[in-house]
Amino acid sequence: MDELKVSNDTSLFEVPAVLDDTGRLTDSCVRQALTMMDTHGLVLLTNLLSDEEADVGLELMRQTIDDPNRSRSSFASETDNHYVRRDFCSLPSSAPVIRFAATLCQRLEGVYSEYCGRSRSLLEVATFTSYFGSSHQYIHRDPAGVISLFAAVENVSADQGGTVFIPGTHMYGGAGNKHGGRANALMELFRLQCNYRIFRHNLKKLWLMRKDKASLAPGEFVDRVFSKKWDQHQPNLLRFVLGKNSQFSLRMLGPRTLWKLYRHREALNDLFSLVQAAPRKGTVILYRSDLLHAGPDNRSTHPRRIFGMSFARDIIDAKFWHDGYSPHPTLSAHPMSLGDLLDSSPLPGPSRTLNQHPSTLVE
Ligand SMILES: [Fe+2]
Repeated sequence: MDELKVSNDTSLFEVPAVLDDTGRLTDSCVRQALTMMDTHGLVLLTNLLSDEEADVGLELMRQTIDDPNRSRSSFASETDNHYVRRDFCSLPSSAPVIRFAATLCQRLEGVYSEYCGRSRSLLEVATFTSYFGSSHQYIHRDPAGVISLFAAVENVSADQGGTVFIPGTHMYGGAGNKHGGRANALMELFRLQCNYRIFRHNLKKLWLMRKDKASLAPGEFVDRVFSKKWDQHQPNLLRFVLGKNSQFSLRMLGPRTLWKLYRHREALNDLFSLVQAAPRKGTVILYRSDLLHAGPDNRSTHPRRIFGMSFARDIIDAKFWHDGYSPHPTLSAHPMSLGDLLDSSPLPGPSRTLNQHPSTLVE
């Protein structure tokens, strides 16, 4: 995107995954990953899954996406979901899905166990697909107190829209003391500056799509730009002017704020930067849910698919849970914890998955 300066170099946040005899990350890997999570709020573990294991995950996701009765997730942008710009849906707690999720949990046990006890809830297992023309989400924080995972089950290019993060903006006791005690105010200013650019980018893109009539569905332009419907991640002018978008609206741009944005413009660009992941197949991203981030738009004609899973770090109120995460009805009916997944059977070892067609794993 022209308006937003984003680096595609994630090497500072990467740890190559090395597994021990039990299929878990080695102690050294765990230590490096924890340092990244604590310092930057995220870590990218490259090659955590073999190609064959990633293929199993992709096949499970395809089965869900192709199911007309799939359970659609109710967060992100409802308008994008409606116009099939995105397709976010939860995966059922079937034996194959649990095996795939258990493999990830067991491999990452050393990292998870630092943040979540065994009894902590599995909030959702999901697949996030975005298509050409989706909106770039505003920079936001997910509900706090959650460790979220994205697994790339196929290569994701920068144009397809790997997640954008602002490293080091996660919250913890005393985080506000950073940057001379002004960290919270500066982070909010930087978020505002980014969201102004994202707003312009989304509007500009929709305007160009409008000229090319084939790329917008009937009514889509009005729904994304002038609708009264709640949607936090569209460049909706009406809700922007009325102050009805909690992510970005006109009422956030008072004269004092504009002055601060101008006064601190250099400090903001020195202190914070955006980095966009373009994970290779088999890479797993772990991040603290309150790290500033956004799901970008897909600027390619190839769908971007990613597997996602989240665990609570503490007890969690049901309303708070369902406001931010979408458990599949089968998971709501039979809740699972981190311990349940650590005790579940994983996928067969890499040598046994070789040459085994994914469909033979589906029950
Ligand atoms: Fe998010």
